[in-house]
Amino acid sequence: MPSRRKILLGTAAVIAAGVGAVAVLRRKPPPVRPPGVPLSAFDAKSTAEQVTAGINLAGRTVLITGATSGIGLEAMRVLAMRGAHVLGTGRTLEKAAAACAGVTGRTTPLALELTDFPSVVACAKAVQALGVPLDALICNAGIMALPQLEQVYGLEKQFVTNHLGHFLLVNRLLPQVQAAPQGRVVVVSSSALKWADETAIEWDNLSGERDYSANRAYGQSKLANSLFSLELARRLAGSATTSNSMNPGAVLTQLQRHAPAWAVALGNVVGPAFMKAPAEGASTVCYLAAHPGVAAVSGRYFIDCNPVAIGGNSESPELAAKLWTVSTELVREYLED
Ligand SMILES: NC(=O)c1ccc[n+]([C@@H]2O[C@H](COP(=O)([O-])OP(=O)(O)OC[C@H]3O[C@@H](n4cnc5c(N)ncnc54)[C@H](OP(=O)(O)O)[C@@H]3O)[C@@H](O)[C@H]2O)c1
Repeated sequence: MPSRRKILLGTAAVIAAGVGAVAVLRRKPPPVRPPGVPLSAFDAKSTAEQVTAGINLAGRTVLITGATSGIGLEAMRVLAMRGAHVLGTGRTLEKAAAACAGVTGRTTPLALELTDFPSVVACAKAVQALGVPLDALICNAGIMALPQLEQVYGLEKQFVTNHLGHFLLVNRLLPQVQAAPQGRVVVVSSSALKWADETAIEWDNLSGERDYSANRAYGQSKLANSLFSLELARRLAGSATTSNSMNPGAVLTQLQRHAPAWAVALGNVVGPAFMKAPAEGASTVCYLAAHPGVAAVSGRYFIDCNPVAIGGNSESPELAAKLWTVSTELVREYLED
């Protein structure tokens, strides 16, 4: 008969093994770091205020799309607080003005409806009319997981909103970014880029009509964000202008607005326990837009203010080049006057 002590020890060992096994299973592998890119001292808990502490942005001009809500609104608040003149876009001038009015510092509201290419061109012209270099151009606005297929210009709407509208805006404004001493393009992507079709961009299905999936379409648009940034960095190589993309992490914002009401309500209750608040969600945006530590870093993908090599389609130069060619064709008539 085993002694009472042996039974207790055995039980403890089984529990410890179980806890250990769960811990091992839950532990994420450490991120793969690209060689030669400096790491920052910041992490997932860092806030936008912390990553910009001590940085004086007086005299700098930053444009951020989607400045009326979530990550964009917080990034505008913090960059303006650090002294930048922030051009904050909203889908209407009224919405942009209301957002800017709530922020301390120098801001200028601009109308930008990314699904309306003349609106994108008008926004770019308004920025050009300011006649100042753009130190940072942050492509942040986005929509997620439209439950039903919606199209603009015959194309799936998330691809147009999240990627194509920004592609047009950046191409129009690139000379102004290049006029800055060290201009930066920051493209907000997402870990959801993995939700894209495994063959990557569905070139023959940009209308979204074949087998529409809300998540796959969102994933494709976010993959396009990172590929666009990669190809832009290749084109800017050797210059002082940089282009990086990033994943803000899971942030409690209005992005889930197209999810079922019960899911939104549930997310609002349990989300704060495991999701970032916008204060943390805007940190990587602000880090890439303003921190001197990344002045010479380009063509990288960042999470939690640090570079990560995620591999796969999002790092394919061939896909990135093809996306540039296809996107150019899709907006050709709006690229020049
Ligand atoms: N939240 C997350 O967990 C998470 C995770 C990964 C990536 N992201 C990315 O982070 C970015 C910011 O999202 P968020 O979480 O801050 O969401 P959000 O609170 O919904 O903010 C999105 C912003 O984009 C604007 N926008 C939407 N459609 C637009 C259009 N057609 N033209 C111009 N502006 C438009 C919105 O304006 P209105 O309010 O007027 O619609 C809003 O200002 C997105 O690119 C998203 O994909 C977010």
